[in-house]
Amino acid sequence: MTFPADFAWGSATASYQVEGAAFEDGRGYSVWDMISRKKKLAADGDAAWNVSARKPAVYNGHTGDVACDHYHRYRDDVALMKQIGLKAYRFSVSWSRVIPDGVGAVNEKGLAFYDSLVDELLGAGIDPWLTLFHWDYPYELYCRGGWLNPDSPKWFADYAAVIVERLSDRVSHWMTLNEPQCFIGLGHDLGTHAPGDMLGLREVLRAGHNALLAHGMATQVIRAQAKTAPLVGWAPVGVVSVPATESEADIAAARIATFSALDRPLWSNTWWSDPVVFGQYPEDLLAIFADAAPVVGADDMATIQQPLDFYGCNIYSAAVVRAGADGQPVKVEAPVGAAITLMGWSVVPDALYWGARFLQERYKAPIIITENGISVMDWVSADGGVHDPARIDYMARYLSALKRASSEGVDIRGYFHWSLMDNFEWLEGYKQRFGMIYVDFQTQQRTLKDSAHWYSAVIANNGADLDDVPSTHGDL
Ligand code: GCO
Repeated sequence: MTFPADFAWGSATASYQVEGAAFEDGRGYSVWDMISRKKKLAADGDAAWNVSARKPAVYNGHTGDVACDHYHRYRDDVALMKQIGLKAYRFSVSWSRVIPDGVGAVNEKGLAFYDSLVDELLGAGIDPWLTLFHWDYPYELYCRGGWLNPDSPKWFADYAAVIVERLSDRVSHWMTLNEPQCFIGLGHDLGTHAPGDMLGLREVLRAGHNALLAHGMATQVIRAQAKTAPLVGWAPVGVVSVPATESEADIAAARIATFSALDRPLWSNTWWSDPVVFGQYPEDLLAIFADAAPVVGADDMATIQQPLDFYGCNIYSAAVVRAGADGQPVKVEAPVGAAITLMGWSVVPDALYWGARFLQERYKAPIIITENGISVMDWVSADGGVHDPARIDYMARYLSALKRASSEGVDIRGYFHWSLMDNFEWLEGYKQRFGMIYVDFQTQQRTLKDSAHWYSAVIANNGADLDDVPSTHGDL
């Protein structure tokens, strides 16, 4: 029972969440700068004209203006990664830092930052895994219609070409988009994330279709122009249902649930990944979306369907289902008092076992867990340490479930813990701490939490000491 010898033990961050330096060195505005200055009504029923009834869209009006100041402190941060023993680091590039208007003039200082970061990582023996887009969409492009603009895939491909030209001599692992379910679903349908729009379904799906085209075109650019052999993937949400028991019927029901729309069609695996892998939207969702479904141009699917070198998936939790009388999935509600994280997400370690297994069964490519982690109410103890036993327990259980999948033959090549350090958690601002490194946002002092030390030991022996007995949701 083990992980492959060259397993990518890593950790992840995203540009807007950690970099700060929002107005330095020519960086352009992004939609997250925009929404973190936005107000919303404090309560349903408040009148829109009543200014005093408004409150910030983001918790306490927090912004990513300074964040972890990683833009200035990346050398120290890479030294901490090295201390932990990370083999790989997943980060994202801020499009508007590199191309302030989203298209056109390139900002050399912005590009130079990523250039130095990559050098620093390589110097520390850490493999850079680069995500091209983790939600901080250029504001100037948003003002031109954003993902609704028919040119938006081309804008993204042109941006990708700039990054590839500069970094592909040293970067070989690429991810195009992070979680289309979120930046399209939360960003354009629910309006909770940037850019904060609540569009009709037709427009939401049109924006989504353009994002898929952007993925395809950027993948083509990377493959055609990279200076060293690239490995290209993407990082959608891994939407997982796990079986309540390991009976054949429950497993079959969980598989059905994992690849169907359930009650949230925009939050499915298949709407996003079937076009990418199979070159077609899933029939069940086309039927649900009916005439709101996007118009698919003659060559669109050929563009979207590019081979994936790996299938990245961000998995934190899962639904639990059992087989109903007809074999179809029936959701099993968590018992009262079941473990949840500070985000309110159920703790379901088997999500990594079944997620890796089901997603590989369907999409075939090697699996990378591009994100997995937990927000805990951490603080610096009187003894100066940051003791986070819940995170260690979470990681131990999830990683042992992943190890089970690996030992049963699922091709899993890497695990990126979310997150390297506490950071700007989108709508939750700095209230949620996901890091293995504690950040004091007043002083920017970093402290390795107990979990970082624990993870070091896991990495050092390639997961050999992880509990080999699979965790189940049942014991929580
Ligand atoms: C995500 C996001 C991360 C979040 C993390 C915790 O891809 O959902 O990529 O940016 O911070 O998931 O919510």
